[in-house]
Amino acid sequence: MNILVTGGAGFIGSHTCVELLQNGYEVIILDNYYNSSPDAVKAIEKITGKSVKTYETDMLDKDGVEQVFAENNIDAVIHFAGLKAVGESVQKPMFYYHTNLEGTINIIEAMERHQVKKFVFSSSATVYGMNNPSPYVEGMPLSATNPYGWTKLMIEQMLCDACVAHPDWHVALLRYFNPIGAHASGLIGEKPNGIPNNLMPYITMVAAGKLDHLNIFGGDYDTPDGTGVRDYIHVCDLAVGHIKALDKLDQIQGARAFNLGTGVGYSVLDIVHAFEKANNLKIPYEITDRRPGDLPSYFADTTRAYQELGFKTQHSLEDMCRSSWNFVKHLYQQ
Ligand code: WQD
Repeated sequence: MNILVTGGAGFIGSHTCVELLQNGYEVIILDNYYNSSPDAVKAIEKITGKSVKTYETDMLDKDGVEQVFAENNIDAVIHFAGLKAVGESVQKPMFYYHTNLEGTINIIEAMERHQVKKFVFSSSATVYGMNNPSPYVEGMPLSATNPYGWTKLMIEQMLCDACVAHPDWHVALLRYFNPIGAHASGLIGEKPNGIPNNLMPYITMVAAGKLDHLNIFGGDYDTPDGTGVRDYIHVCDLAVGHIKALDKLDQIQGARAFNLGTGVGYSVLDIVHAFEKANNLKIPYEITDRRPGDLPSYFADTTRAYQELGFKTQHSLEDMCRSSWNFVKHLYQQ
């Protein structure tokens, strides 16, 4: 089967391409390298020993998207491409709505023109909004608290409506929790760009001596140690979750959401201590004010993904921490 992976050179996309290739799928990558690099494609090919057909194309380029579909007999699309920084989305909402929504519409319309009926969407736990209790369950009411989250929610709705118009479409909406870690090879991972927003890239930059210390946003939450709790999932487990969804797509009627998490919540201090232990180094930190918009704690109910996709995470927190550092070490040793 030929799988089009939009954003396939990105953090989660590249790990999913490795899994796809190692599971016998053919992969075509569409990526504009806005938040990634052609080096990731070379790394995918080095890890798997297989070649990947790649198009340096922006999903906003309708003709470019049409060319990808016209030149390849695509069986399914896994759609990662899009902007994903929460803070930036608040500063530049129209950039996010334009890119994420119009880009996705271009992909969906190309699917319609070329009779492609299978789609896996990179959604996010952010669609559960601020008012749901943990563990999050797929059928809970959805909302968003920032333009990035609204784009994820709106795309989920777009795909539900597309499935009403096309009853023979099969769509999986994969709601990620907090992806961290890296492939064991150390050749692909989450490249920290500038000052990272997310916790693990920030920690690895401190470990690399590029940043002085970690600021822990809030130490007075109603959590076991006062710091924020999240459901961290190894990116390699997340990649496997996409294969599991792809393999079950024929049995999914319409659009169906699945949580991809571990079901276990860890605090910021849990992560810091696990990282220090796994890598035998110290991470200096200061506890500062809460970050506006942060929730105290959330994690996944994993029942549906386990029962319907046969998905269960395999990697430990120690491996998430060790592999994250292993990747960044490789980065700075080059
Ligand atoms: C995790 C915890 C912070 C940085 C976001 C998006 C979500 C998804 C993942 C795209 C929180 C704390 C963080 C730091 C800290 N992105 N933290 N100091 O906010 O849970 O989720 O990224 O899909 O949609 O919302 O992830 O890594 O930013 O924060 O103390 O320098 O670490 O307060 O408790 P978050 P995060």
